Amino acid sequence: MGTNTAPIEALNSRREEEEAPLRPPSFDDFVGQAKTIERLGVMVGAARARGEALNHILFNGPPGLGKTTLAYILGREMGTQVRITSGPVIEKAGDLAGLLTNLERGDILFIDEIHRIPKTVEEYLYSAMEDFRIDIMIDQGPNARSVSLTIPPFTLVGATTRKGLLTAPLRSRFTLQTRLDYYSREDLCKIIQRSCTLLNISVDQEGASEIAGRARGTPRVANNLVYFVRDYAQQKAQGVITRSVAAAALELLEIDRRGLDEMDKRILRILAEYYKGGPVGLKTIAVAVAEETHTLEEVHEPFLIQEGYLQRTAQGRVLTSKAWQVLGIEAPEGHNQLGLF
Ligand SMILES: Nc1ncnc2c1ncn2[C@@H]1O[C@H](COP(=O)(O)OP(=O)(O)OP(=O)(O)O)[C@@H](O)[C@H]1O
Ligand SMILES: [Mg+2]
Repeated sequence: MGTNTAPIEALNSRREEEEAPLRPPSFDDFVGQAKTIERLGVMVGAARARGEALNHILFNGPPGLGKTTLAYILGREMGTQVRITSGPVIEKAGDLAGLLTNLERGDILFIDEIHRIPKTVEEYLYSAMEDFRIDIMIDQGPNARSVSLTIPPFTLVGATTRKGLLTAPLRSRFTLQTRLDYYSREDLCKIIQRSCTLLNISVDQEGASEIAGRARGTPRVANNLVYFVRDYAQQKAQGVITRSVAAAALELLEIDRRGLDEMDKRILRILAEYYKGGPVGLKTIAVAVAEETHTLEEVHEPFLIQEGYLQRTAQGRVLTSKAWQVLGIEAPEGHNQLGLF
């Protein structure tokens, strides 16, 4: 049909291409996320044996942990094409119909940020996922009529940083819902070493570990740090990434030993200095640090909470004792009056 490939093109963005060289191409190259990988392995093996399309899969978790990578790996393992799009670019039912009717049997349609599909469009996905059919209205007024389009059996792979924002009917149509977690330092080390090999950089064990410790449990962050440390090593050292070279490079980026970046530290400091450690509402913090609430909620908060610097309570965000320590500020009397710590 050739209609409406725009949402796909819009997403073949530079970022995706830049990341491509470091993207693990198969399950064997993919480090960590053991449970998810095992679950996917079972589904892929069974679907291949039956000669059927894979069931629908939902990946949930903070940015940069490998959701897009896994969608590509699934396509490769299944021997099918992967079409990439994202929630916000599917504005109308017609956009979705265009994407779906362009699919071939067994293809994977990857919808990133699936929680951002408009609710009016989302309903069309239900029948597409369940019955491989989509009913759309064409024309308007007296000529308006509904046409039913059949779609070849396909696999919807959805990715979201905010599973809670998906409606129950959509969520329930995914056979597998699997969460990606932050990576251990050990796993990040392996990823960093793999990236260095691919980029032709020498790194020793301690250098890799130093970068891993500051990568916020996130492969994308680790790879970005690798790129910067490589430049630093080339300019200021003999080209080899050792512990001291990595540490000096990351100090220059103002990323501390704990992986806290400038924004993390600003959030903590503002909570401490202006609000006596909280509780403070997210919107107030967003205004104070001049950042979007959703970035705080999806990028910074999960890390700060996971590392035990911040707690989310019904009244708002509260600093923990660990945060006060890191800031080197004495907690005011009664800062833990909520009895949390
Ligand atoms: N398990 C892994 N092993 C090795 N490298 C990985 C792994 N997971 C992710 N990466 C690397 O991290 C980069 C980011 O991964 P990816 O784009 O899949 O994240 P994402 O979860 O889709 O993020 P976003 O939510 O921001 O779209 C990739 O380019 C890839 O090189
Ligand atoms: Mg992605």
